[in-house]
Amino acid sequence: MLAHVFLILLLSTFSKQDGTGYSDLTLEDAKLLVPELIRKYGYPCETHTVVSKDGYILEMHRIPYGRRGPSENRPAVYLQHGILLSSADWILAGVGKGFAYLLADDGYDVWMPNVRGTRYSRNHTALDPDKDAKKFWNFSWHEIAVDDVPSMIDYVIETVKQQQIFYIGHSQGTTVFYVMCSEKPEYNQKIRAMFSLAPVAYMQYMTSPLMRVIALAEGGLGFLLNLIGMYEFLPQSSFLANLGEDALCGDDSIVQVLCINPLFAILGFNAEQMNASLIPIVMGHTPAGASTKQFLHYAQEVNSGHFRQYDYGVLGNLNKYKSLFPPKYNLSNVKAPVYLHYSPNDWFSNPKDVNRLYQELGNVKGRFISLDHKFNHVDYLYGIDTPDLIYARVLSLMKRH
Ligand SMILES: *[C@@H]1O[C@H](CO)[C@@H](O)[C@H](O)[C@H]1NC(C)=O
Ligand SMILES: *[C@@H]1O[C@H](CO)[C@@H](O)[C@H](O)[C@H]1NC(C)=O
Ligand SMILES: *[C@@H]1O[C@H](CO)[C@@H](O)[C@H](O)[C@H]1NC(C)=O
Ligand SMILES: *[C@@H]1O[C@H](CO)[C@@H](O)[C@H](O)[C@H]1NC(C)=O
Repeated sequence: MLAHVFLILLLSTFSKQDGTGYSDLTLEDAKLLVPELIRKYGYPCETHTVVSKDGYILEMHRIPYGRRGPSENRPAVYLQHGILLSSADWILAGVGKGFAYLLADDGYDVWMPNVRGTRYSRNHTALDPDKDAKKFWNFSWHEIAVDDVPSMIDYVIETVKQQQIFYIGHSQGTTVFYVMCSEKPEYNQKIRAMFSLAPVAYMQYMTSPLMRVIALAEGGLGFLLNLIGMYEFLPQSSFLANLGEDALCGDDSIVQVLCINPLFAILGFNAEQMNASLIPIVMGHTPAGASTKQFLHYAQEVNSGHFRQYDYGVLGNLNKYKSLFPPKYNLSNVKAPVYLHYSPNDWFSNPKDVNRLYQELGNVKGRFISLDHKFNHVDYLYGIDTPDLIYARVLSLMKRH
């Protein structure tokens, strides 16, 4: 099965290699931290720290204004990254392409949070991510949704002194929004409008082959990972990295990079939208860190077909939830205006699952299927045509609110 995934990646890469050399400039971009990178391209950047209620130290990056300088009344927009990703998502494509730069140039005050466990938020007031790994990494996207995101939204609202903010989420960044507004409906009022890029709530029809394998093994896998003490998803010595020595992935080509980077192996890869010179830069910034529990929680959804809290097994559920099964998230509580942007070819966000989400959300204002039907999960961040196909539409929809 794994070999199958890599073969697909291999073929799709060979079909569209342009052989461009990488300039020093871009290679440096792979190593710089997000604030350094933003300043390098002439934009202002601030770093803000927020501590979650349960002690995680979270770093947010802010571009307060764009190339035209500070102006009055800049609406705040909160850009929530997806799984294995970070605030880097919104800037790596570069000036004039990255969504954060486009928003700043369009007059917005741009906030890019990093959730617990990512490279910018791998810290805690009391726990060490390595020495106390079992406790530190004991979270899923549920905890991110009910603690990190509301804490950071409150911080932004307090800092900018606006009553409501825009929320743009990609992938897990949409999951945590739906969970937050279901579990803490008072947050609906703090949102002017929410834009879902590649929405993920139900996972029943998800087609990522590697994620299917994780789902098949979910029960035993959770037990195994606990046994070997692997709570952080793919730390350096991971089994996927070892595949780099395998015959298929062992050469110096771009293919190797695809083989060893779980981002593409799990979320998919679309050679037509991926600018080859961007790949090494993306590699320098991903995977940005996650807990194994985040993946196991998604895997449970693949198996159960439900959008609900983490399943601890019958005894664990009785103990934690006082019921045999975990409580479901009530999507009709999501009353903030939501726009859904999705694509038929997305490995992680299948249209059938998006339709079910659409039926259940409390206040959907629109749903848009990508004009390019080959659009895949990460194309929303790095795709060559993304500014025209996706960002332009979001920017114009924002003007309605
Ligand atoms: C983690 O946070 C503590 C403060 O609680 C700080 O002293 C330390 O430098 C931080 N570590 C990292 C790696 O950011
Ligand atoms: C992990 O979190 C769950 C749910 O909050 C809790 O029941 C369990 O005791 C925690 N385990 C550890 C090792 O902290
Ligand atoms: C790919 O990226 C390079 C470097 O940023 C840029 O010069 C080129 O125009 C991009 N190609 C496309 C098709 O966007
Ligand atoms: C879900 O929330 C709505 C209000 O938003 C409520 O009317 C409904 O009863 C809830 N459903 C469940 C199953 O709790």
